[in-house]
Amino acid sequence: MLIARELNTLAGHRARLGSETRPLALVPTMGALHDGHLALIAAARRSGAAVAASIFVNPLQFGPAEDFTRYPRDEAGDLAALADAGCDLVWLPPLAAMYPADAATTVDIGGPAERWEGAARPGHFRGVATVVAKLFGQVRPATAYFGEKDWQQVQVVRRLCRDLYIGVEIVPVPTVRAPDGLALSSRNRFLTPAERALAPTLHRTLAALADALAQGCEAEPRLAEATARLIASGFLPDYLALVDAEALVPISAVPISAVRPPARLIVAARLGAVRLLDNVPVG
Ligand code: PAF
Repeated sequence: MLIARELNTLAGHRARLGSETRPLALVPTMGALHDGHLALIAAARRSGAAVAASIFVNPLQFGPAEDFTRYPRDEAGDLAALADAGCDLVWLPPLAAMYPADAATTVDIGGPAERWEGAARPGHFRGVATVVAKLFGQVRPATAYFGEKDWQQVQVVRRLCRDLYIGVEIVPVPTVRAPDGLALSSRNRFLTPAERALAPTLHRTLAALADALAQGCEAEPRLAEATARLIASGFLPDYLALVDAEALVPISAVPISAVRPPARLIVAARLGAVRLLDNVPVG
């Protein structure tokens, strides 16, 4: 597995991989890898591409009161897991390569970035879009693989590529879950044992709600009931919403039979110190 820590090393490794006939796939990550990330590597490998992964904890996508400094970091463990998974190249950019002191460009996205995570975490998607645009410019992949756990992020990155004519195909990969249904996330390790036992309630709530909506129940009252149940169980929801799966606009006011598919139920809720995200398709 090739490892690059400087831009010119990356260019050399990239040329070496590019001299083969395979296209290049990128799996962007912030490290602290789990089976969800490894599923992205596996999907990229199945496509027949040479696979690059990046590891960079991107300060620009964390708010001032968020967990940038305490975000889990395990470079040695990540490199071992990527080598085992058959990754061809790892890009570990130094901060100065991503954000040189004289950098003057950031990327702001409207549309799918405006609500939900965009509203709860002001500046978050500016950070994501800016770093993803830079990673695409540095690695120049043909495809990039993103986990559906961050559904809104996938739509935002797709819009970035569409609006700026960035010729990278975005490939979403289904969420990997623990056997009890909890979506895997690098931050799950911060749940206390009691919170970890409660955490799968979030997915169970979404799944039950999706079934009820698919059977024609009216969305608004069901969403309100489910939100109240989550609060009663100990979650602090930021949002629980039925949205158009691509535009991320709320569609709970219309009956499910009138919704143009695909629709998605999305949720973000705090459990102790951890903010959990999840989503499921509806109908
Ligand atoms: O999903 C993530 O881990 C990050 O948001 C990403 C896409 C690697 C950008 O920093």
